[in-house]
Amino acid sequence: MEKTEIAKNFFIPMPVVLVGTQVNGRANFMAVGWCARVNGNPPMIACGINNDHATPGGITATGTFSVNMPSRALLEKTDYCGIVSGKTTDKSRVFDVFYGSTKTAPMIRECPVALECRLVQAVPLPTHTLFIGEIAGAYADTSVIKDGKPDFPVIDPLLLTMPDNRYWTLGEHAGDAWSAGKSLKLS
Ligand SMILES: Cc1cc2nc3c(=O)[nH]c(=O)nc-3n(C[C@H](O)[C@H](O)[C@H](O)COP(=O)(O)O)c2cc1C
Repeated sequence: MEKTEIAKNFFIPMPVVLVGTQVNGRANFMAVGWCARVNGNPPMIACGINNDHATPGGITATGTFSVNMPSRALLEKTDYCGIVSGKTTDKSRVFDVFYGSTKTAPMIRECPVALECRLVQAVPLPTHTLFIGEIAGAYADTSVIKDGKPDFPVIDPLLLTMPDNRYWTLGEHAGDAWSAGKSLKLS
């Protein structure tokens, strides 16, 4: 297939989360696309966050942060948290906040799933810091649990594509992971 060179800001579609911290003693939330699971046991998550944002100071000061998964219904509020900074705007009242075992990582009651994390490592990069956190607690609305597990069609998460900067929702269930490829195994 013929290839053409494209801009390097292209990336795979990513889930959009709201990272929660305490900034100046108040809950603060920012939209984050650059977030991934990075360790199995113990479970760890990493977020790439620009050093100019209010959030890095909050994570460093408390050693904790939260990762909240908004559903489609929270699209506008999520985008708002990605446009305005806690440095100049109080975002503590955008959502109903609750705390878990860390006591300092604010989580969002309206989000169907929320994770609280303890900071494990902060890796400095040229413009961003990669904050790696161990998941200390995971909470889900009972209404999204099906057969004992969170059910993604009910969670209705938001996805982000770049560089077109658009939000998407889940499409069809296309197959089962760690399973669909078995038919190609030789024996
Ligand atoms: C959809 C979306 C995704 C974003 N993803 C990131 C990200 O992964 N890392 C980052 O540093 N900023 C990201 N931003 C920008 C921050 O959310 C934004 O600058 C925010 O105002 C920072 O808030 P704070 O200063 O209160 O921490 C994103 C913004 C949007 C709208």
